[in-house]
Amino acid sequence: MEALETYIERMSTAESELLAELERETYLRVINPRMISGHVQGKFLEMLVRMIRPQRILEIGTFTGYSALSMAAGLPDGGVIDTCEVDDELEFMIRSFFDRSAYADKLNLYIGSALDIVPTLNQTYDMVFIDGDKCEYSAYYKMLFECGAVRSGSWILADNILWYGKVVEQPVKGDKQTPAIVEFNRMVSEDERVENVILPLRDGLNLVRVK
Ligand SMILES: C[S@@+](CC[C@H](N)C(=O)[O-])C[C@H]1O[C@@H](n2cnc3c(N)ncnc32)[C@H](O)[C@@H]1O
Repeated sequence: MEALETYIERMSTAESELLAELERETYLRVINPRMISGHVQGKFLEMLVRMIRPQRILEIGTFTGYSALSMAAGLPDGGVIDTCEVDDELEFMIRSFFDRSAYADKLNLYIGSALDIVPTLNQTYDMVFIDGDKCEYSAYYKMLFECGAVRSGSWILADNILWYGKVVEQPVKGDKQTPAIVEFNRMVSEDERVENVILPLRDGLNLVRVK
């Protein structure tokens, strides 16, 4: 499996120097660096943005900014990304990489919980990338519809929806994330307002189109 992952990385277009530096810095300085999207998923996000051509993207869970910068690389002229991060200790690092990129003017960083911030932005998004707290995925999804942040034609992409394969295993006592992701995937698959497909890229992406 590791050999296959290395092969996929080598046969995909290389990440930019800035993104490679951001990944190195994340592994050096931040707790839980494995949360970063990284090279292949980052390239996939950029390509998806090039395909969808959204004018406004919402991201829930900036972390150190890798996925936001990847999506920004694919944005059409005039496009913007609103990205929310609850951990204020990450703000300095995020802003320093955003400022060094060519996309600083396209990226709006909000520090705080997306559940509090998004309803106050009064925006409708063409694309939403959900990558925050796994236990809050269902709450994010409901909030997006309730506050009008998504509409017919919007795309939602949710990360980590296979949760290292645990979604098909027997639940383990004390594990809150797995049941939360299982519930999120169930809710989406039964929601008649949308159609969706699960992509087994990295830890799994749920690609949802609002009908
Ligand atoms: C998996 S990481 C995001 C990785 C990032 N999207 C990337 O690809 O590099 C999850 C992030 O979501 C943040 N988070 C958790 N709950 C949140 C919330 N309610 N609102 C905004 N961010 C949240 C965490 O602090 C963490 O930095």
